[in-house]
Amino acid sequence: MRPGQRANDVVPGTTASAGATSRHVRRIPDTRRRRLAAAVATLLVTGLAVACASDDASGPGTAGLSAEVREGRDLYRARGCQGCHGGDGSGGIGPALAGIAGTERELVDGSVVIADTEYLRRSITDPDAEITAGYSVRMPSNTLDDDQVDALVAYIESLEVDP
Ligand code: HEC
Repeated sequence: MRPGQRANDVVPGTTASAGATSRHVRRIPDTRRRRLAAAVATLLVTGLAVACASDDASGPGTAGLSAEVREGRDLYRARGCQGCHGGDGSGGIGPALAGIAGTERELVDGSVVIADTEYLRRSITDPDAEITAGYSVRMPSNTLDDDQVDALVAYIESLEVDP
């Protein structure tokens, strides 16, 4: 709907049967009426966006997430990552992922690497390439495609410790 279309629908003289509300609307001058309708339309659209966002979100504070991060979060939950790495990356059988982006990770061979985007990607696409020190369980391989890995990495990078 064009903004203002609603107001234009209310053609003077044709709304006599529409009741008190439209009679009231008809008394408002034309330009003001159009502006009012535009404001109402904006409010409706905003309200709708907020409703959709909160509909989709299954926790607080998720309304501002980008589509990619949300996809990553959904994959994280659906593809079993959560089972080992905990809800929202809080950790479990596997290391905590919240807050690891950009930090130093110690590997079983004693080397230390920075958990940058490439490292996080590789951890998912080739879990045996670099093995984090201190875990008896091995991370299983998976069949995620490139876009899904990108989304998961974006999600991991969005996680903060103790949000
Ligand atoms: C069976 C348990 C298990 C599952 C399922 C699992 N992981 Fe892991 N993951 C681990 C363990 C254990 C490690 C650390 C040892 C290693 O590197 O293999 C790890 C390491 C990682 C790391 C590197 C973390 C670090 O400490 O540097 C990332 C990133 C990661 N996993 C992401 C994922 C994602 C994304 C998924 C879902 C697609 C997933 N994992 C599924 C157990 C798991």
